[in-house]
Amino acid sequence: MKKWGTLIIALLMVTSLLAACGQNKNNNGDAPESGAANNGNAGKKVVTLGTSADFAPYEFHIKNEKGEDEIVGFDIEIAKEIAKDLGAELQIKDLQFSSLMNELNSGRIDFAISGLSPTPDRQKEVDMSKIYFTATQAVVTRAGEEGSYKTIDTLVGKKIGVQKGSIQEEIAQTIQDAKITSLAKTQDIMMQLKTGRVDVAIIEGPVAEAYVSNIDGLTIAEAQPEAEDDGYIVAVKKGNDELLEKVNATLTRLMEDGSMEEYIQAASELAVK
Ligand code: ARG
Repeated sequence: MKKWGTLIIALLMVTSLLAACGQNKNNNGDAPESGAANNGNAGKKVVTLGTSADFAPYEFHIKNEKGEDEIVGFDIEIAKEIAKDLGAELQIKDLQFSSLMNELNSGRIDFAISGLSPTPDRQKEVDMSKIYFTATQAVVTRAGEEGSYKTIDTLVGKKIGVQKGSIQEEIAQTIQDAKITSLAKTQDIMMQLKTGRVDVAIIEGPVAEAYVSNIDGLTIAEAQPEAEDDGYIVAVKKGNDELLEKVNATLTRLMEDGSMEEYIQAASELAVK
């Protein structure tokens, strides 16, 4: 009995070691089995989502009921449905927002869902799905200072925090004499705002709302930045028509049967908990 026990433990150790090696390979991004068209070791197709999980209620980290870190949000629900319709297992990679287009084109991820706006520049780099949701932009500032930012003109010459590689960075660049701080993760922008290193942050309205309800001392000002590219899309590698068609079919289904609205509602509630 004891002998068997030792053998089983040894076997378990070997298996988990092997699994760990496989894992490492995947993390380095040089294992080809993460591609949508390839079969993983387990025989099931794996489809890899790239996202920047710093964007509640779109994609963000929570501690789940088991006390584990989990990436949730309505973009993630959409990704799960896309994977389901593809008959594939979903793998999620939490990446820097500004690296997503590159990751797509180098094949390290199969699709990107990350509150992505369909800008002309991105249109040149990747292929895009239909629009699945729209929202407006917001200006976040410290509570008590919102009176200073009633129109977009009041941002002239101000210190503005934005996410690196985002349309908000482009919006800030159109504001005269703006002193722009571009950061990789949105929580760092809010930290800069909180500690007085920037005057305002420009960010999507739903994300602004989640932040101001979770961080004391922040509020949304009346100034309303205009974005040229309304709406959010799923991005795939240029020329991947097969995947794009399937992504669009899933989006259509979710929009028609009311699931999309449910996901947005549920994620918005989860984001302010
Ligand atoms: N909608 C903006 C853009 O496409 C910002 C998106 C940021 N997304 C994120 N997950 N941090 O540039």
